[in-house]
Amino acid sequence: MNREEFKQKFGIIGKSKEINDIVDVIMQVAPSDITVLIYGESGVGKEVFASAIHRASRRADKPMVSVNCGAIPEGILESELFGHKKGAFTGAVDRRKGYFEIADGGTLFLDEIAEMPLTTQVKVLRAIEAKEFMSIGAETVTKVDVRFLAATNKDLQREVDEKRFREDLYFRLKAVTLTIPPLRKRKEDIEVLANYFMTKYCKANNIECPVISDAARQILLDYNWPGNVRELKNVIETAITLNRDGVLTPESFTSLITRQEVSEEPRNLPVFLRKSPEEADREILYRALFEIKKDLMDLKDLIIHQHNEVYPVKNNNDEVLPLDEMEKEMIKRALEKTRGSRRQAAKLLNISERTLYRKIKQYQLQ
Ligand SMILES: Nc1ncnc2c1ncn2[C@@H]1O[C@H](COP(=O)(O)OP(=O)(O)OP(=O)(O)O)[C@@H](O)[C@H]1O
Ligand SMILES: [Mg+2]
Repeated sequence: MNREEFKQKFGIIGKSKEINDIVDVIMQVAPSDITVLIYGESGVGKEVFASAIHRASRRADKPMVSVNCGAIPEGILESELFGHKKGAFTGAVDRRKGYFEIADGGTLFLDEIAEMPLTTQVKVLRAIEAKEFMSIGAETVTKVDVRFLAATNKDLQREVDEKRFREDLYFRLKAVTLTIPPLRKRKEDIEVLANYFMTKYCKANNIECPVISDAARQILLDYNWPGNVRELKNVIETAITLNRDGVLTPESFTSLITRQEVSEEPRNLPVFLRKSPEEADREILYRALFEIKKDLMDLKDLIIHQHNEVYPVKNNNDEVLPLDEMEKEMIKRALEKTRGSRRQAAKLLNISERTLYRKIKQYQLQ
């Protein structure tokens, strides 16, 4: 299979040298069991490439399990990864397989690996090296045959330097490193991606494809795409939906991409997990239980400490707002104030970045 056939088969769109080089590496490493670490800003396609590696490997007929280490509350991450025995802790009413076991024979994709707590990192490293692990509450080890892929939008070397990531796990993961450049650094891909998303969207919705005027095309090329390919896809789809006369003009796009000025920092958006409905339900329940207490404490701190910073103006002593509405408003303000920087906003709100992640998703703020 040559490079173009590979791209076609695995739905990789792009003609830049950067993408072609990445595809060449992927074609070379996919058949082996080597660990691949994928770097890139939010929305550059990390999952697309991880999935291509899996689907081009000898494990293709087994599952690729994606775990978003940033989206699962710390308290349950280990039980999610390694599973637990019946009765291992209060609420463990049944034995439950963890992702390591579910991925047996296939691939485990550790997404947002930088968000993994240090204590879990030790156990994950051990499991990767020994190809075995212990479920919570179990007395014997379980053997697994898993290939590992990992992704992050953080500089892991820096995380290591700042003692937030274990060096031994970092060395283990970075055997092969792929860095996917942001869309603004590979502008040749914008047009092919835009055409691809247009055709696909129109076909799926059974509508006639509009044409893009030259000036509109130029707008897409000039924009810096802080949300990368995901943002381009969304912008194209919205523009088509709102279009009436079959021609996409600069005006079709300008109102959709005005965030340019406020978004100098790359946007690292939370990701939705691909899960079965039962798994998703269970996770929601777990999360609710484990985080309610923390949320309450966060909220208390938020109200006490940030009163002057982000308290809604319209709220006075007589008026009572629902807590969730107030929380949403405060998060919105903090994000506006910090021009979308999650790290600074979390600081301002005196909550962890992880909690902020979750709340942004919950309130659909980005
Ligand atoms: N080269 C590409 N070809 C086709 N589609 C792409 C490509 N890159 C990204 N996409 C599409 O863009 C969207 C975002 O991609 P993906 O989820 O892989 O990004 P990501 O880097 O994992 O983002 P995040 O950091 O937020 O998890 C998806 O809809 C994906 O299909
Ligand atoms: Mg992703």
